[in-house]
Amino acid sequence: MAKNFDVVVIGAGPGGYVAAIRSAQLGLKTAVIEREFWGGVCLNVGCIPSKALIKASSYFKKAQDFFPEMGIEVKDPKINHKKLQDYKQGVCDRMSGGVAQLLKGNKVEQIMGEANFVSKNEIEVSSKSGKEKITAKNFIIATGSRPIEIPGFSFDEKGIMSSTGALAIDKAVKSVAVIGGGYIGLEIGTYLAKIGTEVTVIEAADGLLKGVVDKDCVQVVSRKLKKLGVKVITKAFAKSQKKTSKGYELTYEVDGKASTIEVEKILVTVGRKPNSDQLNLKGIGIELDKQGCIKVNPQMKTNIEGIYAIGDIAGQPMLAHKASHEGVLAAEVIAGQNRVYDAKTVPAVIFVDPEVASVGLTEEECKAQGIEVKVGKFPFGANGKAVSIGETDGFVKIIADKKDHIVKGVHICGPEASNLISEAALAIEMGARLEDIALTIHPHPTLGETMMEAAEATLGHAIHIIQK
Ligand code: FAD
Ligand code: NAI
Repeated sequence: MAKNFDVVVIGAGPGGYVAAIRSAQLGLKTAVIEREFWGGVCLNVGCIPSKALIKASSYFKKAQDFFPEMGIEVKDPKINHKKLQDYKQGVCDRMSGGVAQLLKGNKVEQIMGEANFVSKNEIEVSSKSGKEKITAKNFIIATGSRPIEIPGFSFDEKGIMSSTGALAIDKAVKSVAVIGGGYIGLEIGTYLAKIGTEVTVIEAADGLLKGVVDKDCVQVVSRKLKKLGVKVITKAFAKSQKKTSKGYELTYEVDGKASTIEVEKILVTVGRKPNSDQLNLKGIGIELDKQGCIKVNPQMKTNIEGIYAIGDIAGQPMLAHKASHEGVLAAEVIAGQNRVYDAKTVPAVIFVDPEVASVGLTEEECKAQGIEVKVGKFPFGANGKAVSIGETDGFVKIIADKKDHIVKGVHICGPEASNLISEAALAIEMGARLEDIALTIHPHPTLGETMMEAAEATLGHAIHIIQK
């Protein structure tokens, strides 16, 4: 007889494992099915390994460029690529193992195998030990996304890589062409440049991170990329590649004019697509949008009663924290709670150098919505903590409604932007005004003071910069 549950979650990424834990906390008999790794893309081949490597490369670069300035003499620092990979893998294993423990501790049944829908209320799970049928009152689909391939650049994860191959590089690489200057291309490109690889970014748009982040932040990041020796070619489309004795000859076109570069490896990061062509979703009639993501309502319900979808497969933004938020929401809706997706903003961080983080609207978006704004900026160069750690590039920018001073957007480019942005997210969720941030006492000396001073700057009276 088929096993039966109140909730079966398919996929154990940051969407799925969180949904499963919350379902179990709410007293629902829950199982989670995972075909590859506990923690999904994020913990195994995404957020976590990339951040471990990015941090390591920043320390390495600092040891070369900044330690001497601080009086720390380190002789000829080197990267041991094998050890770096071991370190990264250790971090991933620890995090993935932690997820398995949390699931167990919450009495979620963990089933390793690949799920496919047989009908609207039954799945078949295939694993090494055979096939089993499972039924449930509710299914939460959390099967995530995968990298997009472009014609002529099939991934072998050795010479032509997706992010997964690039995060597994275990020896020095002389040169890499990165196709796509978005989140992954710039994060991994920066990491590789810092450990000594010559990086060329081939970006189709006429600028980096176009429409993704505040334009002033892009300027700071672009300057730093240049300093790191990263070559950026915009309005460029990768057309073809030819294997050579040393790597690849890559042909790209700018305004219809073809050029070539010789590189050892190619990294393709032109976006990710939902895994919605799998799981027999078509067979059971799940509705998809134009991008191939599962259509959901604000309670994460699909068009089929009792089937929910969350995370990357349920659409943009494809970010881990958005997946987790939706996971909790879906579980609470199933448990009968009166919940809808009503978050005002999803923070986004790009872990480049310096980090870029944003919440809410940009100036352009405010203009398009007819909102008259006040904008103020406070530079990290005027913050004592930033100066003391030698990280003075960038700023905090606050955009507020001119009329009532309610914060509409915050864009940070600078040290620990990833950590600083949470205060801004809270401000937007609570409908805070500039005065709320400016009058909150921030401890000294901290990077957090830049948020308070940016609010003061927007009001026209920051203390540590001269405002006319
Ligand atoms: P996933 O994490 O993709 O998990 C889906 C799971 O479902 C997988 O484990 C898969 O094996 C399993 N699965 C799929 N089909 C089946 C099936 N039929 N049966 C059983 N199991 C199945 N986001 C951030 O917010 N911050 C970052 O810093 C960040 N860095 C990233 C870096 C890289 C290199 C990449 C690639 C992504 C990064 N992301 C980051 C994005 C983030 O990883 C995703 O948004 C997040 O993992 C989505 O979570 P999810 O639960 O929807 O899906
Ligand atoms: P992306 O959408 O961020 O960037 C893709 C870039 O490739 C764009 O700039 C686009 O103009 C360019 N492009 C598209 N086709 C091209 C072509 N043929 N030739 C040259 N350039 C081309 O996609 P990416 O970097 O693959 O990341 C996928 C997603 O993963 C992100 O959108 C994000 O949701 C998630 N992610 C989040 C991270 C974070 O939160 N820090 C880190 C890494 C990934």
